Amino acid sequence: MTTGRDRRRALGGVLYGADYNPEQWPADVWPQDMTLMRQAGVTCVSVGVFAWARIQPTEQTFDFAWLDQVLDLLHDAGIGANLATATASPPPWVSNRYPEILPCDDSGARYWPGSRQHFAPSSPRYRELAAGLVSRIAQRYARHPAVVMWHVGNEFGCHLPMDFSDAARDAFRDWLRAAYGSIDALNDAWGTAFWSQSYHDFDEVFPPRKAPYSRNPSAMLDFRRFTSDMWLQCYLMERQILHDAGAVQPITTNLLGPFKPANYAQWAPHLDVIADDCYPDPADPHALPHAAFQRDLIRSLKPGVPWLLMEQATDAVNWRTFNLGKRPGRLAAETAQCIGRGADGIMFFQWRQSRAGSEKFHSAMLPHAGTGTRTWQDAVALGATIAALPALPPPGRDARVALVFDWENWWAVEERDHPTTLNYLELVHRWYRALHRRHLMVDIVAAERVDADYDLVIAPQLYLLRETGATALASFVESGGTLLATAFSDVVDEHDRFLPGGFLTRLGPLLGIRLTDFGVLVPPGSPGVGEQVAPFTDRRGTAAGTLLAEEIEVVDAEVLAVFSGGAPAMTSRHVGAGRALYLATIPDEAGTQHVVDGLIELTGVQPVVDNLPACVEAARRGDLVTIVNHGDVPVTVTVDGTDVLTHTAADGLVLPPDGFAFIRTAPSAEMS
Ligand code: GLA
Repeated sequence: MTTGRDRRRALGGVLYGADYNPEQWPADVWPQDMTLMRQAGVTCVSVGVFAWARIQPTEQTFDFAWLDQVLDLLHDAGIGANLATATASPPPWVSNRYPEILPCDDSGARYWPGSRQHFAPSSPRYRELAAGLVSRIAQRYARHPAVVMWHVGNEFGCHLPMDFSDAARDAFRDWLRAAYGSIDALNDAWGTAFWSQSYHDFDEVFPPRKAPYSRNPSAMLDFRRFTSDMWLQCYLMERQILHDAGAVQPITTNLLGPFKPANYAQWAPHLDVIADDCYPDPADPHALPHAAFQRDLIRSLKPGVPWLLMEQATDAVNWRTFNLGKRPGRLAAETAQCIGRGADGIMFFQWRQSRAGSEKFHSAMLPHAGTGTRTWQDAVALGATIAALPALPPPGRDARVALVFDWENWWAVEERDHPTTLNYLELVHRWYRALHRRHLMVDIVAAERVDADYDLVIAPQLYLLRETGATALASFVESGGTLLATAFSDVVDEHDRFLPGGFLTRLGPLLGIRLTDFGVLVPPGSPGVGEQVAPFTDRRGTAAGTLLAEEIEVVDAEVLAVFSGGAPAMTSRHVGAGRALYLATIPDEAGTQHVVDGLIELTGVQPVVDNLPACVEAARRGDLVTIVNHGDVPVTVTVDGTDVLTHTAADGLVLPPDGFAFIRTAPSAEMS
């Protein structure tokens, strides 16, 4: 009898593979796939992600013969299957017989079948049909020796950030009932006395569909929470069915990094392993630091547990307006970035390039042009590199710096009708880029996750600050940490309401300041009044603030920087051994670097490796240091340790453009 341990065997080492869609090919191609997969060093493939129509061609019939054959072939080839539950694209018979499963946009227009993800996550009928399918798959394959992991759904919410269908209406009412208990509590939380919106019954509430003007922001916020919960419920339903059928393999679904529609911080406890899809755009100058941000965010979701890169592209994608390919070496460099930042699996979309359909121009491990291509050779070479890696340490608590990133805040801060319009992710990214340039290891966490193991915490625009988050930030400071809070923070409670007593009601006493005005500036480059920036000067020089130059009143803090008119721009309050800093503006790119460099001086936080050029990335994973040269010229790097691939001392290592090294550091070089 096969044991759970056998079924997990392929999870040893770093997994390598791709989405495998054999249903798109005749059966005589499959044995050839196995041969080529072995040649490429493939150890695991995601099977059947969009195979619902093939598995269940009609409501009453299931066809597993082909999948039996595929899984047996994989097993014989020593390749593990990350078996999908196939629920991401209901077949045409579903939409025809049960049109109530179709989702709607905010004007009530239906999304029709003909693509994928055309289902309302709250639809009871969809859930019933999906449950039926998953039960059959789980019962048949829970003990199949090829199955090493389960892939539930696919990129929940990817094409449908919010569904406003009647199914959503009914489920939203139930969700509100459970959340508030009484309609009075809802009226209070949503401030419905404004604009005559008071409800008498939960059944009077609609999803925030298209309205003549601005929709109630508290309702919008709850609808976003509800939406994230609906996708999560679909995942949890399938997970439960897998468990009920006796599945013991890890269960996951593929996340999308910083993805606004789903609050992954709440999802993470339900994923045995965090899996992520990431497609850096070769045309984007910030693509690599932003990809590093994504890896750090994903790693931070489950501290200490390696994650899986479930999908990346070998070369170009097909869904951007202009689909640039990767330059030679870039694929391996991006892969090294993942491993260095905690990944224990590197997989692609997809194994064999499709011959038809919407993604036929998307790259794959095995291109349409065959094995004579650079892409294939690169995929094979990368497989060999991955196979040569020794067992890697799990990612530890390697970061002493945390950047606060919060989904609920993202939803709230980007609502309309605010003093100014902010792009939260761009602002968080800007701080990350400044930290990344200085080779600091950073965790990306909600305020509640901030603890005394960090030395420095930066919280960009934490407009919605929960009491629990404020408490965690305060104890972090009290225990000796340095916190930088920034403009437009601590403005509203968890219902997007002002708290009594003005602004900064939760952090003000810690920071030793009061906020009197947001001081809006038009963005740089705006027509009309012209560019408005707010220069601020500290002992290290002058930098530019943008968008907001808040008026703050210093109650009990030291002024570290002043705006050109002399008003305080940055303050610091000593609290025990810690400090609570406030920056009353949003610095531009250079200004953000200026502030970060000041914080590094102040706190003494150490880079992963000293004296690296900005184009070289460094990450720490336990005792493993990963160096990647993203620049255009070779660089020479010295780290006290041994290159795990060449087994030589990492002394004077020359890394060409896109070159990388994994270095097992000597204990003395480990982070203090
Ligand atoms: C996503 C999906 C895949 C495929 C790729 C293409 O990640 O999960 O099915 O569509 O995008 O880049």
